[in-house]
Amino acid sequence: MAKLVAGVATSHVPAIGAAIDLGKTEEPYWKPLFQGYELSKKWIAEQKPDVIILVYNDHASAFSLEIIPTFALGCAAEFPPADEGWGPRKVPVVKGHPELAWHIAQSVILDEFDLTIVNNMAVDHGLTVPLSLLFGQPTEWPCQVIPLAVNVVQYPPPTGNRCYNLGKAIRRAVDSFDPDLKVMIFGTGGMSHQLQGPRAGLINRAFDTAFLDNLTKDPRKLSQMPHIDYVREAGSEGIELVMWLIARGAMDDVNGGGNKPKVLHRFYHVPASNTAVGHLILENN
Ligand code: DHB
Ligand code: FE
Repeated sequence: MAKLVAGVATSHVPAIGAAIDLGKTEEPYWKPLFQGYELSKKWIAEQKPDVIILVYNDHASAFSLEIIPTFALGCAAEFPPADEGWGPRKVPVVKGHPELAWHIAQSVILDEFDLTIVNNMAVDHGLTVPLSLLFGQPTEWPCQVIPLAVNVVQYPPPTGNRCYNLGKAIRRAVDSFDPDLKVMIFGTGGMSHQLQGPRAGLINRAFDTAFLDNLTKDPRKLSQMPHIDYVREAGSEGIELVMWLIARGAMDDVNGGGNKPKVLHRFYHVPASNTAVGHLILENN
């Protein structure tokens, strides 16, 4: 059977991708950030997941404002890197896992979560930067990736509660997939950041710390936080953090009769570009 072994939360700041692509990771500005991912890179190289379900948001790269799916599941065999204005990042094409993706679509949609099925989609920094942070610069990504794009760009995004429960539905889907696969789920975006307007550059360390604490300790409480609190406390783009709740929902849960996942690694760093960077690795028991 497929087994969901771990969840990874990480920011997906585009400047991190540019620092990797331009060979700047050893520069004094960037070095402390990349050091925070050293353990993660070793860990994932040892773990060798077969498939990552990568929850991210498209930043108007694949979807313009003409079509805005709330949850879009990539069921294709391949996803090319998107051109975000400077040409596509020179990173490998992302290989999907159509069989598991279609199984998730069937299981989750029949579980009453309406996903948009996407058969053709370019993937932007939201997806490729987390892969670069965890895998470095390989010629091929070492595992298959199922993109799950969430709308956090155009109001109204899904609630934290909806995201948390979608994570649980995804877990049921993975648990019921026959082939022996080692599966991980990534939740990306965040932490506190605001890219525009008078509050641009906002960082709220206290909010970020509490979010990191509660993601492990009390995700249910976190799932009840209204959108306005994200925006007020974490800045307009801080709303990306609802995506971490999808990953957390798919992990073991004390309230669901299971165990609490183990925190293998926790990292927080300011600044990267205009933002705070947060990272957690959670392992199921
Ligand atoms: C930036 C963009 C993002 O999508 C993000 O999540 C963080 C930062 C930026 O443009 O700096
Ligand atoms: Fe983003």
